[in-house]
Amino acid sequence: MSKKDDTSQTWGGRFSEPTDSFVQRFTASVSFDQRMAAEDIAGSLAHARMLASVGVLSTDELSAIESGLETVGAEIEAGEFAWSVELEDVHMNIEARLTALIGDAGKKLHTGRSRNDQVATDIRLYLRGAIDALCAELTRLQQGLVALARAEADTIMPGFTHLQTAQPVSFGHHLLAWNEMLERDYGRLQDCRARMNLSPLGAAALAGTSYPIDRAQTAAALGFDAPTENSLDSVSDRDFAIEFVGAGALIMTHLSRMSEELVLWTSAQFDFVELPDRFCTGSSIMPQKKNPDVPELVRGKTGRVNGHLVSLLSLMKSQPLAYNKDNQEDKEPLFDTVDTLGDCLRAFADMVPAIRPRRDTMREAARRGFSTATDLADYLVRKGIPFRDAHEIVGSAVAHGVEQGLDLAELSLETLQGFSEEIAGDVFEVLTLEGSVAARNHIGGTAPNQVRQAADRAAARLADREQT
Ligand code: ARG
Repeated sequence: MSKKDDTSQTWGGRFSEPTDSFVQRFTASVSFDQRMAAEDIAGSLAHARMLASVGVLSTDELSAIESGLETVGAEIEAGEFAWSVELEDVHMNIEARLTALIGDAGKKLHTGRSRNDQVATDIRLYLRGAIDALCAELTRLQQGLVALARAEADTIMPGFTHLQTAQPVSFGHHLLAWNEMLERDYGRLQDCRARMNLSPLGAAALAGTSYPIDRAQTAAALGFDAPTENSLDSVSDRDFAIEFVGAGALIMTHLSRMSEELVLWTSAQFDFVELPDRFCTGSSIMPQKKNPDVPELVRGKTGRVNGHLVSLLSLMKSQPLAYNKDNQEDKEPLFDTVDTLGDCLRAFADMVPAIRPRRDTMREAARRGFSTATDLADYLVRKGIPFRDAHEIVGSAVAHGVEQGLDLAELSLETLQGFSEEIAGDVFEVLTLEGSVAARNHIGGTAPNQVRQAADRAAARLADREQT
């Protein structure tokens, strides 16, 4: 048997024995990178067309490659493709099948390229598509939030600091705070997309290639803004993936904070909102339970995406230039981040429009918590009392209310006047919840008319986004 017959592998020429079967399995990535098959085929088509246009492939060879790749793509889509661990990864599986289908022309496809620039291209293409899909879902979630916020501009709830009742706010205002977090998340994904959208194709293994390639042509064919600048960087860079997972970790962190609030608000102790039954589950033992599983799971899944960010940072930190096999480990954290984000955004986009506010409970909670104490202090300031003194006076009035089990608005005028002679009958206007929120009447404030305007501006931004 000749050396060649022993080793049917792609690199058989240099090897005197086949790869150990465990090593084959250990080094293979086909079980997970087959997810990039469509991008791999798109990259190969662009590369082959460029090779033909610079005269490296004949027109006949190109046609054979084009129709062969089409067949391979159809086989994969139909689930009829026989993926092989022996062929290690998505790239070699597809190339081997192409060669089996069309013969020698298939063997010429890899001219002037390497799996190193090939995989760098595939991941960018894959991630670009994933970002677009995630951004669409993020937009759907934000649209739901903004619509709910506008409808609930007049709903009053207690606003919290330290999770202690602080000042009354509009429920719509609270929802628009969530929307601002997501607005920045969208911007981060777009920034990441723009920085990533350069074509590494042509970097070949690390140094470029001696063929007369046209990198601008392949870049344009694949929808990249331009070719990358440096071949070494092109095959080794995965910081776009780290950036994406970083942006994803922030999205999850934001969804987790929203989840935490929904979990609190749906509890019997708060009872601020209700989630429809279809987003909840029951208990196998306690018949009264309706558990907010969806927000709880989103909160829980935040941990894995944060973990993926640390994995990718650690994966990168000690790699010398240029490509190293370590980089194969980028895919599973990346794919899982894409999947987790997709599911969690979808869950939220479906759930948010179905949130049912319990307006009376929220209002009652705001009323009970001395939430208009600051308004009383501001009232005294308007009557000429220095703020620090006003703070002290109101503090004593609150202490009295706590003792008596009465809210500030429930104390009689005489009682209130016992704390300051400046207090007059008009004090009750500022002690109402409506008066308190309406007074915060500036951009970014919680006055219901400001909330409606803010919701309109947010909706306009979202509409602009859809056109681009
Ligand atoms: N499966 C490999 C990866 O994901 C493809 C590139 C392999 N390149 C190499 N020189 N072994 O990184």
